[in-house]
Amino acid sequence: MRSIQQCSMQGFNSFKVKAVTPTIYFPDSLADLHQLAADKVTSFYILGEGSNTLFIDQQAPVIIKPCFLGICVDELEDTYHVSVGAGENWHNLVNFCIAQGINGLENLALIPGSVGAAPVQNIGAYGVELSDFCYEVEYFDLHSKQLHRLSKEQCQFTYRGSIFKKSLHGRAIITKVVLSFPKQWQANLSYHGLDHLPFSATAKQVMDQVVKVRRQKLPDPATLPNAGSFFKNPVVSSTKAAQLKRDYPDIPSYPQADGNVKLAAGWLIEQAGLKGYTQNGVGVHENQALVLVSYQYNNGQEILNLAHYVQQKVLARFDVLLLPEVRLITKYGEKEFAELTSRTC
Ligand code: EPU
Repeated sequence: MRSIQQCSMQGFNSFKVKAVTPTIYFPDSLADLHQLAADKVTSFYILGEGSNTLFIDQQAPVIIKPCFLGICVDELEDTYHVSVGAGENWHNLVNFCIAQGINGLENLALIPGSVGAAPVQNIGAYGVELSDFCYEVEYFDLHSKQLHRLSKEQCQFTYRGSIFKKSLHGRAIITKVVLSFPKQWQANLSYHGLDHLPFSATAKQVMDQVVKVRRQKLPDPATLPNAGSFFKNPVVSSTKAAQLKRDYPDIPSYPQADGNVKLAAGWLIEQAGLKGYTQNGVGVHENQALVLVSYQYNNGQEILNLAHYVQQKVLARFDVLLLPEVRLITKYGEKEFAELTSRTC
């Protein structure tokens, strides 16, 4: 299996942090996965394209970067099934599908990252989530040393979550994702930014609009290192939401099926006065406060410090606790924000 010793991760994460891993493995076959299991590689982090990952320390843990490639389309009577290798680029997949006349992923255009990472955090944008189209996920279990397949229900998808962040965390290497697209398609134009498109808009037109809006709002990691939304949108009780609405009548709020209410973290951060705020070469983006950016290719600790500062300011103002969407990786592996922030100022 291809691997590199003492590899700088700077080119492998969108924050461009300069952590060094003792070894990065690039498995692309079942034999490679068996080798990882046989070598008892137990403490590691599975990396997609590093667009939702923050390396905190100068040392990174052992990295496994799955490189399974290939897209295979199966046309059934009223559905397309598309099987995709975990190492494929997500946006390339969206482009491929739309070019083939397979509609559905247009609202998820330009989300950075790999296909294998998509089910882990159930990527979502503009009213659509991966779980809307997920049919099956194949993974290699380092414990049982076998390939397994999970149906959409078995993946236990939630807002930015799945079984791969819970009971399968640290043992499942996703190899393939199978998506299912009904041939009968209707554009999803419910989200603001898309709602001016005509009812008859094609999937390509929707995709082009999503790309345009994202390019306007979100900084390009190639020129300004970032990891998209740093925080998840917090979900609060309806009582708490009603109280906030009384104090802040303009607060955006999205009622959830379970009775709770989702708030917009970007709005809370902006109202806390932090949009465009900078400290020590890192900052809160000036167009989208949910995005933290690194102006001077800083180390991850500075970004973590800023995230903690933002969290505390929002907590003090609204009594709402923001938690990161970005995965936080130390030399010992992945850690929770609360565990790490006791180390920040
Ligand atoms: N808002 C502000 N100030 C800001 C940012 C947002 O007031 O600085 C307000 C907006 O005006 C709007 C509300 O907050 O009323 C929600 O904003 P927006 O529609 O831009 O979406 P978001 O909640 O900030 C989420 C996803 C994005 C996704 C967009 C579009 C999360 C954590 N983020 O952002 O995902 O692109 O919706 O669907 O759920 C990502 O995960 O990296 C990502 C970019």
